[in-house]
Amino acid sequence: MSWALIPLTEEQRAIQQAARSFARAELAPHSVRWDRDASFDREVVGKLAALGFLGMMIPEEYDGQGLDTCTYLVALEEIAAVDASVAVLMSVHNSLPTQMILRWGSAEQKDRYLKGMARGELLGAFALSEPEAGSDAASLRAQATKDGDHYVLEGTKAWVSHGSMADVILCMARTDTPGERKGARGISTFILTPDMPGLHIGKKEDKMGLRGDPTVQLVLDGLRVPKANLLGEEGMGFVYAMQSLDNGRLGISAQAIGIARAALEHSVAYAAERKQFGKPIKEFQGVQFKLADMATRVTSSRALLYAAASAKDRGEPVTQFASMAKLQATETAMWVTTQAIQIFGGYGYVKEYPVERLFRDAKVTEIYEGTSEIQRIVIARELYARS
Ligand code: CAA
Repeated sequence: MSWALIPLTEEQRAIQQAARSFARAELAPHSVRWDRDASFDREVVGKLAALGFLGMMIPEEYDGQGLDTCTYLVALEEIAAVDASVAVLMSVHNSLPTQMILRWGSAEQKDRYLKGMARGELLGAFALSEPEAGSDAASLRAQATKDGDHYVLEGTKAWVSHGSMADVILCMARTDTPGERKGARGISTFILTPDMPGLHIGKKEDKMGLRGDPTVQLVLDGLRVPKANLLGEEGMGFVYAMQSLDNGRLGISAQAIGIARAALEHSVAYAAERKQFGKPIKEFQGVQFKLADMATRVTSSRALLYAAASAKDRGEPVTQFASMAKLQATETAMWVTTQAIQIFGGYGYVKEYPVERLFRDAKVTEIYEGTSEIQRIVIARELYARS
């Protein structure tokens, strides 16, 4: 409905249609089971890959699709509108690890990892947070110590989306020494693979939502990483992570808009069917006002997101706009899904109808890839940086 505001190209419309059809045919029949059992069918990764959805913004020379950010977000929203767990997998893979190797990886790293990731044969994950380092990401403690032609990593990474399924993990760890701490500039990025000795999958979180995408801790227990797997320059890992999160936050915005749009569409349909006091509830002004506000917030969130993504595609800095887009889209997702439950009444509170899952899935979008409070800090800091 509200897509009319965004001028999509023919190619974007075709990709939107392909993503929508795929999500309805291949994801919708399984989403309730994945949510209930906190399980996931790995073959979905192969199906996303077959559509080119795991290498969307990677140039063709590295076996990707060479598409722009806007086109990627169009596809991502369609996936999220049906299954937000699959959407976070797609968002993290496309926005964070693949973009990091594309931007800062060596020729050998691109050949060894990026091409396989772009083809969707290797699934990527991103490990920044730790049990004691969430919003204050620069306080992370995982330590990397040089040992000959290796680094040896010790520590625990937390909240790693699909970390238990990933083939390539971009992991941030300290390379400064306990005697000479360098803050954010003491952090480096390493490319990890599950076959490296000392990398163990830790606790799997039992989550409120996004239950189809496993979130795990990673235990780095004397993990030996070849020096060739240092990404870019030593000491630049935090800056790389922050720059990548500018991309990631656009992806999470599209995910949140997909969730919100689905809640709106379910509500519009339900309000036309459900009768109380002798007429469909859509005829009550109280319900109409809710639907109108929901539609307005979804449309304005999408308009801001595509303005921010277009700026990125023009090569402009988007730190502030990515944070604004994420803040608005994710708070919209939480608000719209809350209204949807109210419209559904008791039926919104049970698992028989889809809005209950959408409500649970929406919540984490206000938390991961930077909480709403962190987005406000980033936005406010940029106000002063420009003055
Ligand atoms: N682009 C480029 N550089 C950046 C940057 C950006 N967006 N943000 C910060 N930097 C640079 C700064 O310029 C600074 O560089 P210098 O050393 O040259 O000065 C350096 O990074 C340190 O920056 P700050 O001093 O601003 O660092 P800070 O400690 O004050 O933290 C913060 C800033 C914005 C609060 C940051 O810690 C943050 O974003 N926290 C939230 C963490 C987060 O989003 N985690 C997501 C986890 S991953 C996840 O959820 C993925 C998933 O699986 C779904």
